[in-house]
Amino acid sequence: MSGTSDIADGGPKHVAVIMDGNGRWAQARGRPRLFGHHAGAKRVREIVESCPNLGVKYLTIFAFSTENWKRTQVEVAGLMSLFRRYITKEARALCDEGVRVRFIGDRVQLDRKLVSLMDELEGMTAHNDRVHLTIALNYGSRDEVSRATKRLAEEVASGNLDPADVTEETLTKFLDTRVLPDPDLVIRTSGEARISNFLLWQSAYAEYEFIDTLWPDFSSEIFANLVGSYGKRERRFGAVPA
Ligand code: FPP
Repeated sequence: MSGTSDIADGGPKHVAVIMDGNGRWAQARGRPRLFGHHAGAKRVREIVESCPNLGVKYLTIFAFSTENWKRTQVEVAGLMSLFRRYITKEARALCDEGVRVRFIGDRVQLDRKLVSLMDELEGMTAHNDRVHLTIALNYGSRDEVSRATKRLAEEVASGNLDPADVTEETLTKFLDTRVLPDPDLVIRTSGEARISNFLLWQSAYAEYEFIDTLWPDFSSEIFANLVGSYGKRERRFGAVPA
């Protein structure tokens, strides 16, 4: 990865991606859905590596949602095994390339081996600052806000927090994403125009790009074009133009 930025200041610092279309990509080739997930996992590295040149400091990707447990047992088990293999295989390269990896989502339902690999990768890359890659795994925004609210209520109940001091900032501090800036740009592949319970609170002012490309066909060129067009838009955060 090179350290220079091709996109002028004003480009998105935090891009979040809903990587959709793996199943359809595989089915179009007469292959099982997991074949598409494996092809999709291979795409992640290329996009992470293109971030520094584009001035993208934070990349957050949706790998497994709280709703994805409803898929067949074969697909869920295959995805969990893919995550374990991905972390084991990619750890060294991510670390050497200066990527800081974090996971968001509820770890309680995940298998212990996977959670320990996640913890290990977070620890191993904790000193990195070139790109901040956040992988949403067993993540759902409503679940995240519920868990945050529960912890906040516990603070109130124990007398550490006055209800009068509960503000947007307070709640934000209890979210899984508390150390991350809000996403500037959210991309969803595969032609579906939905946000599927992804970073709902955090993306209140984000720009959205819904593109037809299926995730395994997503390339660094497409990513660069989307990042480039973002720079041409004006974000007003509810205010009127100056
Ligand atoms: C949605 O496609 C994709 C997922 C539910 C899994 C996303 C996982 C990956 C891209 C691979 C693993 C990622 C990492 C970080 C190792 P879909 O199955 O819903 O596709 P469809 O809409 O065509 O059925």
